[in-house]
Order: sequence, then C-alpha cells, then structure tokens
Amino acid sequence: MSDVQYDDFLSRIYDEAPYFGRERARELEQYNAFYFAHLHDKSRRILEIGSGTGMLTVPLARAGFLVDSVDISSAMHEVLAEKLSAEDESVARRVRRILADATTHVGEEPYDTIAMPEGVVIALPSRELQIALFESCHRNLRVGGRLYADFAQPRWKVVYEQTLQEHTRFRMHSGDEYLLSVTFRNDRHTQIEEWDVVFAKQGVPPEPIEVKVSFRFLSYSELQFMLERCGFKVIAIDVNHSHGRGFAVIAEKV
Ligand SMILES: C[S@@+](CC[C@H](N)C(=O)[O-])C[C@H]1O[C@@H](n2cnc3c(N)ncnc32)[C@H](O)[C@@H]1O
Repeated sequence: MSDVQYDDFLSRIYDEAPYFGRERARELEQYNAFYFAHLHDKSRRILEIGSGTGMLTVPLARAGFLVDSVDISSAMHEVLAEKLSAEDESVARRVRRILADATTHVGEEPYDTIAMPEGVVIALPSRELQIALFESCHRNLRVGGRLYADFAQPRWKVVYEQTLQEHTRFRMHSGDEYLLSVTFRNDRHTQIEEWDVVFAKQGVPPEPIEVKVSFRFLSYSELQFMLERCGFKVIAIDVNHSHGRGFAVIAEKV
C-alpha cells in the first residue's frame, strides 16, 4: 500500500471522487440553494464550519458574503486557498481561512450566522463529539443568531445489510483513472458507519491507496433533541433536502 497521506490525497481528489464530493460538485447550485435562500446580510461575517474544499465558501464569497472558514485539515485549506487564488482578489479577500478544531474553536466575535455545509456533523463519529460541535456553535453565536447545516442521511441498503461492498471507476480531469472499492460497515447500535475505501490508480504498476472514514448518522428526533439540549430552538428541519439525500437544519440560539 502507498504511504500517501490520507488527508492530503483525499483533499486533492475530493471534488471528483464518487461517494465523496463528486455528487455535490456536480449539483452545487442545488445543494447550496438552501444557504442562498436564507443568508442575506453581507455586512457581518458568517462563520463556516467544515469548509473542506470550499464548495460553499467560494460561491458565498463570489456573492459578496464575508466568510470565516474553519476546517481542521490543512490539506483541505490548501485546496481552498488554491481555488481562492484563481478568483478575483476582491472575492479572495472576503474569506479568512482558520485552521482549527471546530469543537473547541472560539471565534473573535459572536456571529449572527453559522453555516455547516455537507457533512461536518456526521463526520464526527461519536455522540459526544457531535454534541461538542453543537455546543461550540452555540458559544460562537449571539443570542438570536442562527445555525444552518446540511448533512446526508444513511443509505438504508447499508443499514439493513450491515456490510456492503461496491466498486466503480472514475476518471479525473487530469486524465488519471481510478478503480474505487468501498466496503461499508454499519453498526445499528452506535449508528456509526465505517467506510474502507481503496483507490487503485490504473496504470503500471497499480498503486492502491487506502482511506478509512467514519460517519455517525443522525435521526430527526435525535438531531432535535441534541440541538435543544445545546440551547437551540429548532426553526426547521427539511428531511427532503437535495431530493431526500439529506437533512437541512435551521436552529436559533435562545
Ligand atoms: C464531509 S467533509 C465536507 C466538506 C465541505 N463542507 C463540503 O461541502 O464538501 C467534512 C469536512 O469537515 C472537516 N472537519 C472534520 N472534523 C472537523 C473538526 N473537528 N473541526 C473542523 N473541521 C472538521 C474535514 O476536514 C472536512 O473538510
């Protein structure tokens, strides 16, 4: 197996890899529409948590929003920095990149708005970490400030079968072709789903790269309970976000 660092490799491939960012990247406007429908104030900075490769960050900055983008991964920040450097300078200047753990991060100011796009909640694979994240959102908002988040629901086939293996091929814009094999393992008790992913770059010699990721999915009722327990009033939970693939949540600090 290659010793390529998971973080560095995955951040480079993220936007083009099936199961990771590809679906979002292909339908970006549709996924981001939830945020654009609710965010209007361009005079105050938005705290974005789990900015990843910037699939929401860059469109927000292009639209004139000021964004403080927190992510724990320096490799993800690097991809975002490269995307911003290809933008007009006025766009790039609207984004402050903050390398930090969102569960403990304390921003400079209490924000009016926090945006948590696509998956950072479920990417924290324990109940304790997810609660720590919502507590951190609460700490970083002013009273009356709002949290907007979206994340995927589990695939029921994986939940029912507990273990499932899938294989697919994809080609990057660079021309590199990969055979992607994913073994999904679900634990109904902990709600944790583990993915053992192997990217086999096609060519001679083949160079497989192993990636392991875990998610903890949330049900409607647990999400509502967690948010209320962390000091939020739930304004709306759309369980049909992006054609039923995920939840979109609005919660207000009380
Ligand atoms: C599933 S990706 C989503 C990326 C991005 N939001 C998008 O729209 O594609 C989750 C992101 O959360 C980040 N992340 C995970 N744990 C974190 C933490 N404790 N604090 C801050 N960011 C975190 C990861 O580095 C990754 O960029």
